[in-house]
Amino acid sequence: MEIHIVDDADAGAKVVADLFERTVRGAGESGAVLGLATGSSPVPAYAELIRRHREEGLSFAASRAFLLDEYVGLPVGHEQSYHRFIRDNFTAQVDIDDSAVVSPDGAADDPAAEAAAYDLRLRDAGGVDLQILGIGSNGHIAFNEPGSSLVSRTRVVGLTRSTIEDNSRYFDAPSDVPVRAISQGLGTILEARRIVLTATGEGKAEAVAQLAEGAVSARWPATVLQAHPDVTVVVDEAAASKLELADYYRYSRALERENPLTPQG
Ligand code: GLP
Repeated sequence: MEIHIVDDADAGAKVVADLFERTVRGAGESGAVLGLATGSSPVPAYAELIRRHREEGLSFAASRAFLLDEYVGLPVGHEQSYHRFIRDNFTAQVDIDDSAVVSPDGAADDPAAEAAAYDLRLRDAGGVDLQILGIGSNGHIAFNEPGSSLVSRTRVVGLTRSTIEDNSRYFDAPSDVPVRAISQGLGTILEARRIVLTATGEGKAEAVAQLAEGAVSARWPATVLQAHPDVTVVVDEAAASKLELADYYRYSRALERENPLTPQG
């Protein structure tokens, strides 16, 4: 796990956007498969990617995108649906084809069948090249709440009270927040070739400390990322405030910057 402690959300957005840019450019015409997340944490990175698209010609035309999750009961165009969120905050503002942005159908008649089909769709697409994640204050990623199986697949999940409270800011009233979601599982997320997780603010400090330094456990679902070989974590000082090894992470990043490893010939 590579941990970057940055001054603020804008600095973090650049680190995340660099990973996206490298993935998209590296895939060339065959196109990258991008794993997108909702929530406020990735929004500065999306804004930076939109800027690079407009000002620097970064093109997403060949890319496809898959969302992590969707509320059960909200149809695609619903104001609070995650599909709408990602369109409004990212995909409609770059040149990715709308039909190439895929999310679970929250309004499906059979949400469990839809979840299983979504998991297969991800596989059929060849898997995700780069997955961006936020983290819930209780350590959830996507909607894998504490207690989720570490090998879970895309499925219907019930949301905890704390998640409903956290997410009620997007709704008129907490009672409007759907109580279930279709979410990629922890095992599904781990199949992404590369993962970047971003978090800011003191409210995420405990979850970030567990993610990076806690014991791997269903109690803090994000700890499963310790078992993935290519995870980058980008956090501001407040979200990093409970990391015991913060000095080591800072030292490691400075070492890479100031004394990069070059092959000896
Ligand atoms: C929701 C989403 C998660 C997201 C989390 C944190 O629960 N399902 O994918 O990481 O919120 O959101 P925020 O970034 O707004 O704190």
